[in-house]
Amino acid sequence: MIEVKNLVRSYGLQPAVRDISFSVQEGEILGFLGPNAAGKSTTMKILAGFLPANSGSATVAGFDVSTQSIEVRKRLGYLPENAPLYPDMTVSDYLKFHARIKGIPSRQITQKVQAALEKCFIVEVKNKLIGKLSKGYRQRVGLAQALIHDPQVLILDEPTVGLDPVAIKETRDLIKSLGGKHTVILSTHILPEVSMTCGRVVIIHKGKVVAEDTPENLTTKLQGVRSIYLEVKNEAPNLLAELSAIQGVNRVSITQAQSYLVETRQDLDLRDELARWVVNKGYGLIELRTEKVSLEDVFVQLTTQESEEELTHA
Ligand SMILES: Nc1ncnc2c1ncn2[C@@H]1O[C@H](COP(=O)(O)OP(=O)(O)OP(=O)(O)O)[C@@H](O)[C@H]1O
Ligand SMILES: [Mg+2]
Repeated sequence: MIEVKNLVRSYGLQPAVRDISFSVQEGEILGFLGPNAAGKSTTMKILAGFLPANSGSATVAGFDVSTQSIEVRKRLGYLPENAPLYPDMTVSDYLKFHARIKGIPSRQITQKVQAALEKCFIVEVKNKLIGKLSKGYRQRVGLAQALIHDPQVLILDEPTVGLDPVAIKETRDLIKSLGGKHTVILSTHILPEVSMTCGRVVIIHKGKVVAEDTPENLTTKLQGVRSIYLEVKNEAPNLLAELSAIQGVNRVSITQAQSYLVETRQDLDLRDELARWVVNKGYGLIELRTEKVSLEDVFVQLTTQESEEELTHA
């Protein structure tokens, strides 16, 4: 549904997107991650037809974003980083205006506006002036604008920024519900949100793709080792040595009193043996679990090299 090939874009001498390629299948929800200034918004603007690339190509539903941008815009909803809202318009007038410029037939406009108001939980503010809304409500209006023509593809640049925790959950559920029928690319800095919402993730750093996979694979593959957290009730002065001697265990460390971190190969699962050992010895098993590397750990690992260079660019 979306194909991005070798995109390059600079602002003057400042490179923003150096070489980005990825594709998104129909119905997929793709998380687009990267540190500040990585080039996410720039890439999204190019996809939405709001900014030309210097080189490379991108297609949405088979249409080229630079040469067939009208066809692309019909099929695409875009929530920009700073949604250009008109402060002197009421919410429903603003949505009606967008419905018209997106080519929705007049007789369907009222119904489409109502549906977008409901989806984004802004029915109660529909007659308010946009300039008088709180930041979170303005963000919801931006999302409603992107959804109003029920587009096949949605490009959402930080859709949950500025929202309160309840609204974040509602928006996340809304985005999840769009999957399957719609194709979504969303950028965010809230990484647990990505694991909950996105089937696949592209991480970019300094204008290049540094990782592309499912959230699960990113967090297990990159880990390389499996860490098992083990906590016992009773004092067990020999346990460190005993655990270290179990076949397959590479390393054991004590994290705090009576708590251990046991490292094995990624493809080896010794939880059963460890549990049996502790129980048979009468140490009193309190907790045993695989320590998961979080997406945040993966993100930091992939995007913190050469950070000084970034500072000199800024
Ligand atoms: N209009 C512009 N003029 C000049 N430089 C720009 C412009 N927009 C972005 N840049 C630069 O391009 C680079 C990429 O910016 P971009 O907004 O794409 O990053 P981002 O990944 O969206 O970051 P953030 O997480 O902060 O939103 C940055 O170095 C930024 O300073
Ligand atoms: Mg951005």
